[in-house]
Amino acid sequence: MSKKLLIVANWKANLVEVPTWLQQFNALSEKVEDLDESIEVVIAPPTSMLFLLAASATIASQDISMFPTGAFTGEVPGQLLKELDVEYCLIGHSERRKYFGENNEIVEEKMEQAFKNGITPILCAQSLAEIPENIRNYPAEKFVIMYEPFSAISTGGVYHAEDPQKVQVTLEEWKSKLNLNCMFLYGGSVNSENAKSYINLPLVSGFVVGHASLDPKDFFSIIKQCLTPSTLA
Ligand code: PGA
Repeated sequence: MSKKLLIVANWKANLVEVPTWLQQFNALSEKVEDLDESIEVVIAPPTSMLFLLAASATIASQDISMFPTGAFTGEVPGQLLKELDVEYCLIGHSERRKYFGENNEIVEEKMEQAFKNGITPILCAQSLAEIPENIRNYPAEKFVIMYEPFSAISTGGVYHAEDPQKVQVTLEEWKSKLNLNCMFLYGGSVNSENAKSYINLPLVSGFVVGHASLDPKDFFSIIKQCLTPSTLA
């Protein structure tokens, strides 16, 4: 295995039976020797479920407040996420940009809050224009960029993934224009049928998986596609 992969389950705002999901997923992953060495598996549940997962999984929040702790009713600031052992944080997901009016200014503030609290941001972007300027202020190994065109997000369980070739061309362009040596993920309708075609792309180091992560068996099938035959043996 040449690159350590990062695969994030984004449960969005879905109801998941956490103990059952974990039990089923662990039963499958236990069969793979040294899974942790080749793939970092991260779960990004709704905020209300973070504490249920903290003891038994690497966790990501799906958002972070642009404010610190204080009088900001309804917000979950970085310091409180860190208290729950949150290690990663999705920032600027296209659903947040579309439904909650998040723009680059807000995204920049959220990145700052993540860094301040020792949380690794997974910056979600559909285009270069959604990658804020201040990203250059941070060391490239301290953040991750996820490319996800909104049109590629599954809808009601129907997958419409981006052409892998287009993903490669886009990431090559981003890498050269930004001159950044960070890790890139792909997101959008990733499932066990198409995972291999993306993970084989030289610039893709993992996924953010939405719908197909709700069922632990489906999610594990994606992970299996990303393992080398020697790991599986
Ligand atoms: P999807 O969602 O895998 O259901 O397309 C991915 C995401 O939006 O994070």
